[in-house]
Amino acid sequence: MTNSNSNGMVESAQQDLPSMPKLQDILPSFRLDGHVTIVTGGSGGLAHTLTQALLAQGSDVALLDLSVERLEYTQRELQEFARANNLNKVTISAWPCDIGDAAIVEEVVRAIPLKHNGIVPDKLIHTAGYCQNIPAMDYDARQAEAVVRVNLMGSLYICQSMSRQLLQKSQRRKSVSSDSSEAGEAVPQFPHASYVLIGSMSGCIVNNPQPQVAYNMSKAGVIHMARSLACEWARYGIRVNSISPGYIATALTKKVISGSPEGAALQQEWTSRVPMGRMADPREFVGAMLYLLSSSASSYTTGENLVVDGGYTCW
Ligand SMILES: NC(=O)c1ccc[n+]([C@@H]2O[C@H](COP(=O)([O-])OP(=O)(O)OC[C@H]3O[C@@H](n4cnc5c(N)ncnc54)[C@H](O)[C@@H]3O)[C@@H](O)[C@H]2O)c1
Repeated sequence: MTNSNSNGMVESAQQDLPSMPKLQDILPSFRLDGHVTIVTGGSGGLAHTLTQALLAQGSDVALLDLSVERLEYTQRELQEFARANNLNKVTISAWPCDIGDAAIVEEVVRAIPLKHNGIVPDKLIHTAGYCQNIPAMDYDARQAEAVVRVNLMGSLYICQSMSRQLLQKSQRRKSVSSDSSEAGEAVPQFPHASYVLIGSMSGCIVNNPQPQVAYNMSKAGVIHMARSLACEWARYGIRVNSISPGYIATALTKKVISGSPEGAALQQEWTSRVPMGRMADPREFVGAMLYLLSSSASSYTTGENLVVDGGYTCW
């Protein structure tokens, strides 16, 4: 790069070179020490693997799901995983919570710091959700509304409650940056806050052959909601992104494809539509998650929908 100096002379490019950066200034960190990550759908198949990776990176985790028994079972398993891998500093808490109930979500999010040394969660992995295969003509209104309430409204509720809590904490501590709003008041900044919503390729394409209109529309809503929140909350430094998986081998899909010849045929049909010719393993989402959670690796990424589908949506 060249610049003109006060005499109109062109300065040499040499003078513009930045000082030698340190390696840690170039390479992003994926460590999450000192953070609490909320994992919704915490007893689910995808969540289980993602939570192991969060613990390995030093994050505390707060698991939210419907059933107390399954939560306690998952919590015990993860504690065992942490012990076996010498991850002694991490705390795992478990919270029964219907993500589609705004009041309960608010109550749970407010209580979480009490079990994590007062640390307010600023990282989110939102996996809670479910799918139904019902033809649109026959879809009972209440059933369809329930899918939207959990998958879509639940995504909004958890993000709202987390952001409210972050803002309230900063107001209590009056820890504000020098950034100013139009009215001149300082705007609180949360440079580490990152919310990752698990959408689905079903929010971008229509799965075939199984009918699932309520699921598809709810996931399309999740992807666009992430963009909307990203725009509203960028001023606070809160980033909001989604990951849209293709077919993953978890309890959710195994319910549909295992145990019958029809299920096996459906799996064959699905994988034939994936350029990579197979379903995903939950571990194949760890990299995308850590990228989006890292405040150095993805500091300029917000409102993005990261599709991880073995190429499904390309065909
Ligand atoms: N498995 C796939 O092929 C696939 C593909 C694309 C997207 N996804 C999405 O990934 C996410 C995780 O899916 P998974 O495969 O691990 O499924 P899963 O069924 O194993 O896990 C989902 C979890 O969400 C919980 N949940 C459901 N309703 C809830 C509610 N009202 N409140 C709180 N928790 C609730 C369930 O109890 C379950 O533990 C889901 O959002 C799903 O839509 C899955």
